[in-house]
Amino acid sequence: MANFVEIKRLSEHVGEEVTVKGWIYNKRSSGKIKFLILRDGTGYLQCIVFKGNVSEEVFELSGNLAQESSVSVKGKVKAEPRAVGGYELDCTDVELIHQSQEYPITPKEHGIEFLIDHRHLWIRSKKQVAILKIRHRIIKAIRDFFDDRGFTLFDPPIITPNAVEGTSTLFETEYFDLGKAYLTQSGQLYAEAGALALGKVYTFGPTFRAEKSKTRRHLTEFWMVEPEVAFYDLNDDMDLAEEFIEYVVQTVLKDMKVELEILERDTTSLEKVIRPFPRVSYTDAVEILKKKGHEFEWGNDFGGADETIVSEEFDRPVLIHRYPAEVKAFYMKRDPEDSSLALAVDMIAPEGYGEIIGGSQREDDLDELLKRIKEHNLPQEFFEWYLDLRRYGSVPHSGFGLGLERTVSWICGLDHLREAIPFPRMIYRNTP
Ligand code: 4AD
Ligand code: MG
Repeated sequence: MANFVEIKRLSEHVGEEVTVKGWIYNKRSSGKIKFLILRDGTGYLQCIVFKGNVSEEVFELSGNLAQESSVSVKGKVKAEPRAVGGYELDCTDVELIHQSQEYPITPKEHGIEFLIDHRHLWIRSKKQVAILKIRHRIIKAIRDFFDDRGFTLFDPPIITPNAVEGTSTLFETEYFDLGKAYLTQSGQLYAEAGALALGKVYTFGPTFRAEKSKTRRHLTEFWMVEPEVAFYDLNDDMDLAEEFIEYVVQTVLKDMKVELEILERDTTSLEKVIRPFPRVSYTDAVEILKKKGHEFEWGNDFGGADETIVSEEFDRPVLIHRYPAEVKAFYMKRDPEDSSLALAVDMIAPEGYGEIIGGSQREDDLDELLKRIKEHNLPQEFFEWYLDLRRYGSVPHSGFGLGLERTVSWICGLDHLREAIPFPRMIYRNTP
């Protein structure tokens, strides 16, 4: 056992003398009293340094502590409903661990570029800590959801010989004598092999897109979770996506109240994320756009603005299915009712957060898939192993991918994906 107590566990120590270690978040003074606000990553604590209770040196030190100095404080725990976190420490000792230099991030307003330049320090701020904790809770909810339903976590490679989602957004690298290799855009093709081996699998890891788009919804490195299930058709896939999103959102609402409050997140819209979600076909979604007076030609892909307009018709996430095959990936199965359509689905989050899920039923017929690979000018030799899945006991199967940062950004109510990941990678930024 460590010889200090975490702030979030102080409720178990009321009336006791304890040691707390952390950093000076803020401080003020009034005559004979110094108020130190300590943060330790688990919470915030007001420490009262009263001149009469400590040595002269300790009282002086307490006045000289710079923001973000690290300290070890000793004192008696008191319940104090008016204090941050609900507890207070009546200090008997304050020990300096390290006196901070002038801290660049002060309580005043800083520009966003300045803050991202100092991301390694910015993550100490109250809101950033809350976001990173919610991100962690979302990751755990995602894993619990699939683990509890008999899915096996299946880790795909990150270095790959081919594109999954189209060749325009690949990060390329030289790979010894084997020529070019690429950073994966998605683990899906490997997840399909996993599903035919294990039935239900999910991948969860970083994926890469050399996106030229400089938008609030795009990172070049982002985390994706991709379930893939043998014998599931598009409807089963949509049912799974719906149950999954309901679970993740409701879990965060239940467990992360304090953090959502710190972010001043109005949760009214999140509370409505309860099944069933509305489902509309792409064709019906185009009609919604036209009815609302927006010009849109059937056959085009939706842009972020179009998605928002469609989603505003509904009070919860909406599933848009059966897109024109032309705008979707090569591996998607065609609709047997209309071969110009792909059995695809996107889930659009409310409040303008756009596409959070993309998925589909996969083409399971060898000849059809060969045809698509040729149409898309993809090098067949790299896909032979993938084609084998259609040669040896092919079955209908489906899956989807959820973008983690888009989900964090939506649930936290953020303006931009850059705050949804510890160190964002974007087209104009790969530091710190
Ligand atoms: O729609 P996408 O491209 O689908 C796939 O990658 C499929 N292979 C998934 C599957 O069926 N297994 O990407 C899936 C999700 C998007 O809905 C979005 O949430 C997120 O990944 N995403 C991004 N997030 C951040 N930055 C980017 N540049 C993203 N591109 C996609
Ligand atoms: Mg997509």
